[in-house]
Amino acid sequence: MENQDLKLGFEKILQGNRDWMDFVKEDKTGRFQQLAKGQNPEILWIGCADSRVPANEITGTKPGEVFVHRNIANVCVHSDMNMLSVLDYAVSVLKVKHIIVAGHYGCGGVAASLSRKQFGVIDNWLCHIKDVYRLHAAEIDAIDNQEKKEDRLVELNVIEQVFNLCTTSIVQNAWKSGQPLAVHGTVINIGTGSLEDLHTTFTNNETLGKVFAYK
Ligand code: CO
Repeated sequence: MENQDLKLGFEKILQGNRDWMDFVKEDKTGRFQQLAKGQNPEILWIGCADSRVPANEITGTKPGEVFVHRNIANVCVHSDMNMLSVLDYAVSVLKVKHIIVAGHYGCGGVAASLSRKQFGVIDNWLCHIKDVYRLHAAEIDAIDNQEKKEDRLVELNVIEQVFNLCTTSIVQNAWKSGQPLAVHGTVINIGTGSLEDLHTTFTNNETLGKVFAYK
C-alpha cells in the first residue's frame, strides 16, 4: 500500500484486533471456545447501517447474543432477498425469540427521504421511506419543524417496518407453529444512548388485517 494514511488506518484496525485477541485469550469463562462451536442468539436486530448505532453496545449484549442485519434506515421490504434470508435463518433455524427493529433519531436516510433532492442509487431505496411518508403525510405535514418531522418519520418508519416483518410468511409460519416470537419497534436516541420502545410489539397475526394475516 503506497498511501501512508491508508496504511496507518489499516494498521490501526489490525492493532485493534490484536488487543481484542488479548482480551479473548485472557477470558477465563470459556465462552469464546463455546462460541467457536456455534451460536444460539435469542435476538435478531434489524438496525440502521449508521456507524453510531451498534447493536451489542446499545443493548449491553456480548458476541453470540444478537444476530444482526443492518441497512440504510432499517428498511424491511418483502422483496429484499438479503433481509429475507437473514430473517428466515434467524427465525426458522436459530429460533430467535425477539426481533428488534431499531431506528434512530437523526437518521440521514430518513432525512434524505423527506427532501426532493437526488442522492443517486440510494433514491430508489429511500423511496420505501417516502412510501411511509405518503401513508402519514397529513400528520407529518402538520408538524412545523423539519427536525421534528424527520424524527416522527423515523418512528413511523420503524412501525411500518415492524408491520412488514410481521406480514412475511416467515414470521407468520413461526407463529402458526406455536413458536414464541415477538417483533418489537424501537428508536435509539444517540445523544442519551436510550433505546425507546415504540409499543408496537406483535406476538401473533391477529391484528394484521384481512389480507395480511395468513390462514
Ligand atoms: Co440511519
